[in-house]
Amino acid sequence: MGRLVIGEQSEILIDRDLLRGAILPARSDRRKVAVFTQPGARHIAEMVVEGVASVDVQQMILPDRDTAKTLAVVQTAYEWLADMGMGRRDTIVGVGGGSVTDVAGFVAATYLRGIEVVHVPTTLLGAVDASIGGKTGVNLGGKNLVGSFHHPTRVLIDLDVLDRLPIELKREGMAEALKAALIGDPALLVHLESTGLGADLSVVVPRAVAVKVAVVDQDFRETGLRATLNYGHTIGHAVEITAGMPHGHAVAVGMAAAGRIAEELVGFANAGRQLKAIVGLGLPIATEGVERRPVLDVLTRDKKRDASGMRMVLLRAIGEPVVLSVSGEAIDAGLASIGIT
Ligand SMILES: NC(=O)c1ccc[n+]([C@@H]2O[C@H](COP(=O)([O-])OP(=O)(O)OC[C@H]3O[C@@H](n4cnc5c(N)ncnc54)[C@H](O)[C@@H]3O)[C@@H](O)[C@H]2O)c1
Ligand SMILES: [Zn+2]
Repeated sequence: MGRLVIGEQSEILIDRDLLRGAILPARSDRRKVAVFTQPGARHIAEMVVEGVASVDVQQMILPDRDTAKTLAVVQTAYEWLADMGMGRRDTIVGVGGGSVTDVAGFVAATYLRGIEVVHVPTTLLGAVDASIGGKTGVNLGGKNLVGSFHHPTRVLIDLDVLDRLPIELKREGMAEALKAALIGDPALLVHLESTGLGADLSVVVPRAVAVKVAVVDQDFRETGLRATLNYGHTIGHAVEITAGMPHGHAVAVGMAAAGRIAEELVGFANAGRQLKAIVGLGLPIATEGVERRPVLDVLTRDKKRDASGMRMVLLRAIGEPVVLSVSGEAIDAGLASIGIT
């Protein structure tokens, strides 16, 4: 159904019943395959293992969610790969949500100074965001503080797998799909507005992936344009940490705040429309009981790490992101609009 290519190296396949076909790029010198997965994706990893059974394949089940994203887990993974005799021409496959593809990608980027990785994202967030673009890493105190850029040679997105996701995981991913629509695909926004959570994934996934691919292709190492993918993530990240909200929910709230700020600073005329689209996906547009001080503390801490200052992605219009320095007053107004005073 869909085949997208990032640069020369990364092939993204999007289709139904994809895992019954060839999973790995054809190569005659591959002897071993190491599959990394997580508890919720084991049934899909089994299909992958069966699909590559022509070579020596073994699998390792990582701890669930972000508990997988530690250097201790990475070390265990290196030792396991060394024990099984994985060599330079062998392949790692990450089967799972973003936490798995982040760890599998990082291990692949660094083991023997870099070997092939293939991703099979099994969450919607993984499919439209985490598995695309070659960012890999683990957490160290703050999120994703250690990592590297390493493109998968292939990403296989099986829409049948995504259709069967529990509603909460679908909603999480829809927040990132909506973000993609807002920064780069007005037609996708119209589709999400008319269908809400019942949206047709064979429309949503290729379009959202295409937005990310287009941005990454122009700015692989995040010198400028790639920052637009952080739409909703500045305030969103601070709310995620402070309120312990799921990432997708926090991004939704962050986009709501950014919309309000954009209305004020760059004349964004669709802030109300954006709020409706968020609500239509069953995602929140405000927080309850979150205090302003701790949110500002996280924002300032993030800012210290990023010499560009308190810069935020705003929208001039749907599909027209800009990155701007934003004053403390504007941030306060944005926070107030999502119930943080
Ligand atoms: N590298 C990047 O560019 C990038 C971008 C965005 C997010 N991320 C990272 O992605 C991670 C979040 O990823 P995520 O939300 O995909 O989730 P996740 O890997 O944390 O998994 C979420 C849950 O879904 C379960 N699960 C996975 N597949 C399933 C399936 N098919 N059916 C039922 N349950 C299933 C898992 O077991 C887990 O409990 C974060 O660590 C984030 O930092 C990375
Ligand atoms: Zn995100």
